[in-house]
Amino acid sequence: MSENKPLWGGRFGASPAEAFERINASIPFDIRLAPHDIRGSIAHARMLGQTGVVSEKESEELIRGLEAVLSEVEAGEFSWTISDEDVHTAVERRLREIVGEVAAKLHTGRSRNDQVALDLHLFAREAANEIISAILEAMHALVEVAERNRETILPGYTHLQRAQPILLAHHFLAHFEALRRDLARFEAAREAANVSPLGAAALGGTPHPVDTGMTAESLGMEAFRNSLDAVSDRDFALDLLHACSVLGVHLSRMGEESVLWTSGEFAFATLDDEYSSGSSIMPQKKNPDAYELMRGKSGRLIGNSNSLLITMKGLPPGYSKDLQEDKEPIFDSVDAVLAMLAVLPEMLRTASFDGERMKSAAGGFALATELADFLAMRGVPFREAHHAVGSLVKRCEELGASLEEIPDEELRSAHPALADFPKELLTPEGSIRNKKSAGSTSPESVERQIKEAKRFLEERESGKANPTPDSR
Ligand code: ARG
Repeated sequence: MSENKPLWGGRFGASPAEAFERINASIPFDIRLAPHDIRGSIAHARMLGQTGVVSEKESEELIRGLEAVLSEVEAGEFSWTISDEDVHTAVERRLREIVGEVAAKLHTGRSRNDQVALDLHLFAREAANEIISAILEAMHALVEVAERNRETILPGYTHLQRAQPILLAHHFLAHFEALRRDLARFEAAREAANVSPLGAAALGGTPHPVDTGMTAESLGMEAFRNSLDAVSDRDFALDLLHACSVLGVHLSRMGEESVLWTSGEFAFATLDDEYSSGSSIMPQKKNPDAYELMRGKSGRLIGNSNSLLITMKGLPPGYSKDLQEDKEPIFDSVDAVLAMLAVLPEMLRTASFDGERMKSAAGGFALATELADFLAMRGVPFREAHHAVGSLVKRCEELGASLEEIPDEELRSAHPALADFPKELLTPEGSIRNKKSAGSTSPESVERQIKEAKRFLEERESGKANPTPDSR
């Protein structure tokens, strides 16, 4: 049995058993919330003084003490024990050691239920902000690599079979678009997190004249509307975990692509030595570990999102201790996403691409659609054109020839209208230049996309679009 009585110990005849203490405690992981917990408490203490719930002098003492605890936390000098149970209790215990008995007034008009919800809102808001900056950095790197590869041609794939030539810039700009959507998801998650539950107390509010608007405002947040919802809601955390999962899927797909591209079979790309690892037994190996880990970690992100969804689905309104299980998946996902985004930009910038090898894979039958489109533009119904070119491909296979080498009479016999087919279209460059539709892989379209992407990033940086909510 533990020596210390917990803060709720008044009605108990015995201290908690050690095994109970261990399963019950969240302090080993929620200590991470300490800076948020203290900032929330400072806002609460200030409001208690301004509304006369405690005297001005008491409020000042509480704030001074909390600031001292915050400095200890920031300096890495704060210590806790398992009998502190959770971060809220640990902070209050330390506050009492610093300012004495007045510390006992801090919890007036508040419960750990609204307190923990606030801490998590603040954590989620900050995490979303960090992830947003990291995504923007990755988007910068994608645009840079796109700009450097405006003329590099590779095959685009469907079913992992060579389909049509595309520009490597177009390919990276496709990833840019996925990250642009991620950005919007994290901005929405940040918005959802930006609500203060303080003043909801245990669940039904409090008889003290607390001002929920005042605490919310000093934290740069909106105030909650319904106290029962305020302590029960973890939707903002689900939003953050979902955004992490989708981003993880995007990063995983990039990872998979680079694993393929750096293989001896593709040999399209080489990673810089700084971003590769070797084998302990095979001296020749150079492995794309970081990309594999992006693929691997994305599974955990989906698991974390599921984990909280499953925790939430059985809970009636109000606080249930199950909610303590919300923190580790959130911390884990945020850490994983930040670790992936920290490595991605430079890994992209320093990779090299074998343009010759890419281009040589982009010719041949990957140009067949050009012939079909040419016929369709001459008024041949597309299905008929498709069929004619299909038989030409078959004929090429019989002759062991590529499309570029096929004699004119074979073209004519596949379809008479192919007699004046412009041969330059049967090259990767010709095929790319021949695209006319918006957003396509043609050089003009890719230039426009690069310009728009750069303008988008500039607007973000100049703060014109979606400013960061206050994170005082
Ligand atoms: N450690 C708890 C959690 O993480 C804090 C809230 C405790 N509330 C309570 N009524 N026991 O959720």
